[in-house]
Amino acid sequence: MTPHLTAPAITPAHTGHTNWWQDAVIYQVYPRSFADANGDGMGDLDGVRHKLPYLRDLGVDAVWLSPFYASPQADAGYDVADYRAIDPMFGTLHDADALIRDAHELGLRIIVDLVPNHSSDQHEWFKRALREGPGSALRSRYHFRPGRGETGELPPNDWESIFGGPAWTRTEDGEWYLHLFAPEQPDFNWEHPAVADEFRSILRFWLDMGVDGFRVDVAHGLVKAPGLPDIGGSDQLKLLGNDVMPFFDQDGVHEIYRSWRLILDEYPGERIAVAEAWTPTVERTAHYVRPDELHQAFNFQYLGAPWDAEALREVIDVSLAAMRPVGAPATWVLSNHDVTRHATRFANPPGLGTQLRTPGDRELGLRRARAATLLMLALPGSAYLYQGEELGLPDVTDLPDEVRQDPSFFRAEGQDGFRDGCRVPLPWTVDGPSYGFGSGGSWLPQPASWSALSVEAQSGDPDSTLELYRAALAARREHPGLGSGDAVSWLDAPEGVLAFARDGFVCTVNLTAEPVRLPAPGKALLSSGSREVALDGGEFVLEADTTVWWAV
Ligand code: GLC
Repeated sequence: MTPHLTAPAITPAHTGHTNWWQDAVIYQVYPRSFADANGDGMGDLDGVRHKLPYLRDLGVDAVWLSPFYASPQADAGYDVADYRAIDPMFGTLHDADALIRDAHELGLRIIVDLVPNHSSDQHEWFKRALREGPGSALRSRYHFRPGRGETGELPPNDWESIFGGPAWTRTEDGEWYLHLFAPEQPDFNWEHPAVADEFRSILRFWLDMGVDGFRVDVAHGLVKAPGLPDIGGSDQLKLLGNDVMPFFDQDGVHEIYRSWRLILDEYPGERIAVAEAWTPTVERTAHYVRPDELHQAFNFQYLGAPWDAEALREVIDVSLAAMRPVGAPATWVLSNHDVTRHATRFANPPGLGTQLRTPGDRELGLRRARAATLLMLALPGSAYLYQGEELGLPDVTDLPDEVRQDPSFFRAEGQDGFRDGCRVPLPWTVDGPSYGFGSGGSWLPQPASWSALSVEAQSGDPDSTLELYRAALAARREHPGLGSGDAVSWLDAPEGVLAFARDGFVCTVNLTAEPVRLPAPGKALLSSGSREVALDGGEFVLEADTTVWWAV
């Protein structure tokens, strides 16, 4: 039964900006791995609720929760069986209500994940579609097709699943259905009005619950090219890839988002939507955030950039230039639940992609990760943090195969499939079962070295990564100029160094392996390296792989 739930709207944002989301720092919670209140080894909504004060004190503006809906968990909840129910593993609708209310009381906003490209194969519609057979009304809400070949033994086209293998699975009655991801994730047919109606209703359900926004999963995938044409050629897509494909970034998706925007705007308090849209260019991404569409889109070009001054400057310039004409804030992200954590990416040589299996040079990775975070948080727009990056967590690159759950690992021939490494549950305490994650162990094993990386171990240690994040987020609040605006002014700097000015503020980043002597632009606010920035006759030494913020 659906309880009657209407959470109170949140009080105005701290910055005094009309649009809270334009410079918001949004923290991604991956509910399975954040905190486990009931001791079953799997995180849950109550766990998140108990840790909200931690997130408030960290200094973020909003929390985005990865899916917690009823799901067989074939893809860790991105296979939704009921969009209006909470999976018992995560709790109940009452828990969700309590979480939203508590968050609002603490001044935190809540963004939930919405998965409109596909459902679970255990969704009522799909189960009925299978039962009712070829030609039935329910089949037209998905993409069912007869096969090719003499007896229909070949898939209807040559598309491959992003998780590996064909994007089609044959049913017992001989028809095939499309799934861009796992076979347990059949793609909806968005040409069907019932699908569009259903999602408008789901949006309203969660808006009525009081959520402040949606993260739209695979936002670029909903509409497929007419006739589902073959791709031809052998280079098919990988997760987070950005090639031009007949199933991605079709112009028809924008009509859907225009209709969603009308709904979001009906509700008070600036409810937002952020697109997970992998497109060939940042300019194409900007289409999703035109004034009558969604509010933000993840900047995967930024996430994919190497630790290299020229490459970063280029992607920053291109991103700001692409967003300016549509008036949307640029966004910045370094880690999420689909990619190797940035502390490990930057510990490895560039060019290895976003799913790595090698730990690399941990110390180097952490130094660069801290510097990269300060760079990101100094850019105009909104920044996304992924749980655990504030602890400087590395990816767990040596998980035994038996414990892995990423569906792409099992279909992975030649593919990525190592997303479990960034999904290992968080360490909260120095000792205790699963380092304070919960009393009943953790669904993926945590390395023993994580005791020293726990929240408890780092809290109060001014050199820790956690305290660096706290200080950076506090400074962002004190200097609203840090996240606002839509431009940076680059300052002259030696090769391998980035320096830019913002309102009353300068950011200097040394991306080289050697210290550099530079004129001090003002008063040092915060450094990702040694805490003290020594001034010497108006100059200072910017350490290797280090960012320093300055008040000017
Ligand atoms: C998105 C999610 C990813 C999921 C996929 C299919 O890319 O971030 O975790 O596997 O969509 O829903």
